[in-house]
Amino acid sequence: MFEKKHVLSMREFSREEIDSVLDLASFLEPYARGKKSDMLAGKILALLFFEPSTRTRMSFETAMKRLGGAVINLGPAEGSSISKGESLADTVRVIGGYADALVIRHPKEGSARLASQFSPVPVLNAGDGAGHHPTQTLLDLYTIKKEQGHIDDLSVALVGDLKYGRTVHSLAYALSLYGADITLVSPPSLRMPEAIRSDLFSKGTSVRETNDLSVVVNSVDVLYMTRIQRERFPDPQEYNKVARCYRLTPESLVNARKNLIIMHPLPRVDEISPAVDGTPHARYFQQSFYGVTVRMALLKMLIGGGA
Ligand code: NCD
Repeated sequence: MFEKKHVLSMREFSREEIDSVLDLASFLEPYARGKKSDMLAGKILALLFFEPSTRTRMSFETAMKRLGGAVINLGPAEGSSISKGESLADTVRVIGGYADALVIRHPKEGSARLASQFSPVPVLNAGDGAGHHPTQTLLDLYTIKKEQGHIDDLSVALVGDLKYGRTVHSLAYALSLYGADITLVSPPSLRMPEAIRSDLFSKGTSVRETNDLSVVVNSVDVLYMTRIQRERFPDPQEYNKVARCYRLTPESLVNARKNLIIMHPLPRVDEISPAVDGTPHARYFQQSFYGVTVRMALLKMLIGGGA
């Protein structure tokens, strides 16, 4: 059962709600591969992206169009009334009158929630600063389920920039609902924020922390790599200290579990050598494809008359 108006944070999802999204996504996967549909015919989705995006923006657009809907795009902020000083609240009120749902990505934490307070139609958070990225987490969970057969009780390592990376903030929380055993791998200066760690502890999740990836690689089922979020560092010197701190190569994987899958929300910088792409562990390109499937499910549930 899914009765949400907005998709703002994974904290607002129960395990049952997540499972209902994943089940519908599974049903819709053939449509993501091109099967014809008019499930969302007559519906309009508005895209408001105030930060760069390739996958999130284009997979939402693809999801909508493959289900027969249409998309309108705010485009770069310089080309809109935002450049005249219009507030986010007013922008959202206006565009909410044109579209059936809004997808918003913004550099400020809390902006999607703010938008939801003014929008007459559902708001989907496509990333708010270093805050949350719930639609990415749902496609991450879908990938894990498809590629490992289940989510429960897996051993998962979240690797890289755990401080500024919003995908890992949302994913860590969701994994705790499935009894995952979580290893947090980051340089000391980029540890998972205290608020999220305490959420995990309060759910009784088994959490280990380390900065050494080499040992962890051999003892997990899922390696979730992330990019160091250069644009969020107040000081470029600090970025330079941690840039290129982790890099997976085929050699680093020789003792990995057979069933290990490597995921990455993308874009990658140099955390994964392109030579890893041809190993049986790589799943990041499948993962980005599943973004279409899972976003179809969310759109259908929010504006297409339910599951
Ligand atoms: C991520 C993001 O924007 O948070 N990208 C994405 O949505 N696939 C990860 C990143 O930018 O590093």
